[in-house]
Amino acid sequence: MDISTWFNQFTNDMIIALLTGERSYTMAGYFNEVSDDEKAERPSALVDETVKFVRAIRKHFMGLIMFQFVSPFLRHYFPYFKNKSDDFIRNIKFINQRMDAIIKRRREEIENTPLDEPLPSDLLTSIITANTPRDINYDKIDDKEVMRPMNDHEIRVIIFDGIIAGTDTTANTISFIVYYLAHHPDVKRKMLNEIDRIFQDDKTRPITENDVHNLKYCEAIVKEVSRIFSVVHVFSRCLEKPDEIGGYQWPAETMIKISVDAIHHNEEYWDEPDKFNPDRWMVEGFEPRKNSFISFGGGLRVCPGRKLAILELVCLTALLFRKYEIDLIDKKSPLRTESGVITACNELLVEIKLRN
Ligand code: HEM
Repeated sequence: MDISTWFNQFTNDMIIALLTGERSYTMAGYFNEVSDDEKAERPSALVDETVKFVRAIRKHFMGLIMFQFVSPFLRHYFPYFKNKSDDFIRNIKFINQRMDAIIKRRREEIENTPLDEPLPSDLLTSIITANTPRDINYDKIDDKEVMRPMNDHEIRVIIFDGIIAGTDTTANTISFIVYYLAHHPDVKRKMLNEIDRIFQDDKTRPITENDVHNLKYCEAIVKEVSRIFSVVHVFSRCLEKPDEIGGYQWPAETMIKISVDAIHHNEEYWDEPDKFNPDRWMVEGFEPRKNSFISFGGGLRVCPGRKLAILELVCLTALLFRKYEIDLIDKKSPLRTESGVITACNELLVEIKLRN
């Protein structure tokens, strides 16, 4: 199977559940698509609805570039661009309607729950209740603008950002992990030893918080893959005031592109930077030099989902490899990727068998 597509559905269903508390069924949709006879045991209307929603989100993400690079004149008066941009606008209206319905439903649920009863622990519930009497920090700061609850538009944007930023990034990283493990049998063996030691051959029990703390080598693999083949290969900063960078003077408002690959493969910061070596993260007290590991960015705008992403990747790696043997169909074939906003895996053909 092409496991990269499955990973995409998995991280999507996961992030929607964590951020909105709603179930998403794109994995079931993918199962129905690839399986001829057997179908997922989910109501097909629900599956179709979430698949449509998620396709709309992806379409929006891919279409953003149109509004950045095609001038308003072309978008308004040139039929080809006008049709495309009208289509994207209809698409975002559909997404907004769906998101607003979810927010409205949750607001009603919260209002109907007595104050002393617990609420679900998803992000949507947290941001709806922020700065309301349900917030433990309610009314602690004397500033009306800081302490006002968020409106639906603000909530929608936060959730939407999380879904967009938290799906493809994590999905592609796990594809890269599978690829690197297939090419480094010594690392894979060591990882399986750790997994088997922790789960004691139990292939089905749920993973616990304690397990995650003990899966140190799996975590090292996640970090090393993120270092050697980062999904986000470049991010930007704009200079607020004139500054000197790299021995040159730059005026205010210069856009600086930070190359993640250049920093992750720099000998000044990393020993043998081109070597895939998860053990470097296992050395007692090891910490990369400040700003030399920037898979998740850095500073004030650092990725807010980084801990969740690492947790998700460690769990997924351990749970998959505990139960399945996963191998590339063609070890000689290079990793098939495409670089845009992120580096995405186009296809990763694998053979999966139950581990004995
Ligand atoms: C392997 C997974 C991930 C990678 C490699 C990644 C990487 C990044 C990077 C490089 C940035 C830009 C940071 C900067 O400019 O300093 C970023 C921003 C962001 N990430 Fe992630 N991310 C991942 C997972 C997630 C997840 C799971 C979520 C959500 C739950 C998320 C939410 C965000 C958001 C909302 C921003 C924008 C932050 C801002 O502009 O202030 N990311 N991420």
